[in-house]
Amino acid sequence: MMRWAVALAGGALLAALAVAGYRHLYPDLDAPMARTMAILDARGTVLGQYRTPSAEEIRGLPNADSVMLGRRLLNETARLLPDNVGNALNCNACHMAEGKRPLGNHYLNAGSRYPRYMPRPGREIDLADRINGCLQRSMNGRPLAKDAPAMVAMLDYMHWLNRGLVPGSRVAGLTEGPIDSTLSPDPARGQVLYAAQCAACHGAQGEGQRDASGDMAFPPLWGDDSFNIGAGMARLYKAAAFVKHNMPPAATLEPPLGQAVMADQDAVDIAAYFTAQPRPDFAGKGKDWQHDPKPKDARY
Ligand code: HEC
Ligand code: HEC
Repeated sequence: MMRWAVALAGGALLAALAVAGYRHLYPDLDAPMARTMAILDARGTVLGQYRTPSAEEIRGLPNADSVMLGRRLLNETARLLPDNVGNALNCNACHMAEGKRPLGNHYLNAGSRYPRYMPRPGREIDLADRINGCLQRSMNGRPLAKDAPAMVAMLDYMHWLNRGLVPGSRVAGLTEGPIDSTLSPDPARGQVLYAAQCAACHGAQGEGQRDASGDMAFPPLWGDDSFNIGAGMARLYKAAAFVKHNMPPAATLEPPLGQAVMADQDAVDIAAYFTAQPRPDFAGKGKDWQHDPKPKDARY
């Protein structure tokens, strides 16, 4: 009896130590992200510090069920919203670390940046319109009604990340990393680099890889299951910036998991190769950039 009790207590202690040690070594392994960042006002004056919340904190919220549903929808979009998603992607394939990683298309400021004027649609849009933009382009699918529970849940998740920010303030971390957009792309060189650095996960034909349950483990980069030509990721320099600062996914972790971030020219060449591969058309493309100049890397 005694021996069992001692063994149990010892086991529990070891387990606790193991968890503590693991957390110490790899604090953000499940969602690599900056822990604190400055909160800035419109002029760039520091107003305070923003702390990126962990998913565990959702439990204590008054709207925990909706925020948790939003989190799931952003991670498992293709499976949970088959009527609205027309490819095999999930939102967080491009919005890294559940939308919490600087330079990885984070959602930290999304909750307070809208409504705002955007050159692509040429009008003021709200956050639900912005999400629907990604549904129609990045997800090659159909928009959600603004009051649909799934839309409300995704908005609630983004507003939770944005908690405590007064209107007009923002978290300092940028959504996209810098890239030298004066570099000329060499897609033939990009093809060679793609085969060496990307194909192992994303497939030789950019088709991605599914896991045993049929869900996408490594998302497709081109073909029918990928984003359409109207997506931000279809633009050469946006894709290059994303790849440079986020790919492979451990690129920005500290050693031993991390590694050096790739050179701008490599990212531009690889992006030139995969963005130009066959992908779905975007029916609404004729309505884009009607009032503002088209970016030089637009596909149409
Ligand atoms: C193929 C990549 C990709 C996928 C998939 C994707 N997005 Fe995006 N999203 C982007 C990029 C790139 C931007 C940056 C702006 C742009 O398009 O130029 C963006 C911008 C946004 C923004 C604006 C953020 C801000 O701070 O202004 C929101 C919100 C958003 N996406 C939500 C979603 C949601 C919700 C989904 C899933 C339904 C989704 N995205 C799927 C690539 C993607
Ligand atoms: C170790 C596997 C791995 C490697 C290698 C890798 N990726 Fe990814 N990539 C991922 C995963 C996983 C995601 C989805 C985001 C996430 O879950 O972190 C992703 C997402 C993407 C996306 C956005 C989603 C989409 O389908 O469009 C692009 C673009 C991308 N990777 C390009 C590249 C390029 C280019 C390379 C080579 C330089 C590369 N990746 C190397 C695993 C990998």
